[in-house]
Amino acid sequence: MEEVNVFKDYYNNTVQLSFLDHPFSKNPKHVWVICRYKGKWLLTDHKERGIEFPGGKVEPGETAGQAAVREVMEETGATVKKLHYIGQYKVDGRYETVIKNVYFAEIEELVPQPTYYETNGPVLLKEVPANVKRKSNYSFIMKDAVLESCMLRIKKTYV
Ligand code: GTP
Repeated sequence: MEEVNVFKDYYNNTVQLSFLDHPFSKNPKHVWVICRYKGKWLLTDHKERGIEFPGGKVEPGETAGQAAVREVMEETGATVKKLHYIGQYKVDGRYETVIKNVYFAEIEELVPQPTYYETNGPVLLKEVPANVKRKSNYSFIMKDAVLESCMLRIKKTYV
C-alpha cells in the first residue's frame, strides 16, 4: 500500500500509519482523539497508563465518530464542537491487531464530571513536552511516531 508510514512503537510492535481515508478498515474498533481547547491541548490522565489524548473502543451500534465524542466526554468532560478525521493506524501486537482512527477535535466546553471512568480526568497543556518519550507519567501511546506525525499535520491544517 502506498503512503503508509511503518515504524515500531514503545513496545517494539510494528505500527502502520496513513492519512488516507480509512485505509485499513472502514469500521475500526478503536479511536484516538487529539483535542484542542482555548489554545491548549486537552488530554486525560489514565490511571494505569498516564497522560495521553483520550480515546478507546468503539461500542456495538456506535460509529467511530460517535465513540470519539463519547470517549472525550467520559475521560475529560469535554463536548466536541467539530470532529475532523486525520488518519488511521494499525498496530500488530503480540496477541492482536488494533486499528484506530485518529481525530482532531475542537472542544466547545469543559464540564466537571462526577467520574472520569478509568482516568483522573482532564489535563490541559500549552505544549506536549518534547521529551514525552522519556517521561514516565506519560502513556506509551504518546511515545511513537503516531503522535508527532499527527500533531504536525494538525498544526499545519488547523492550529
Ligand atoms: P482492554 O481490553 O480495554 O483492557 O485493553 P487491552 O489492554 O486489551 O488493549 P487493546 O485491545 O486496546 O490493545 C491491545 C494491544 O494493542 C495493547 O496492549 C497495545 O500493545 C496495543 N495498542 C493499543 N492501542 C495502541 C496505541 O494507541 N498505540 C500503540 N502503539 N499500541 C496500541
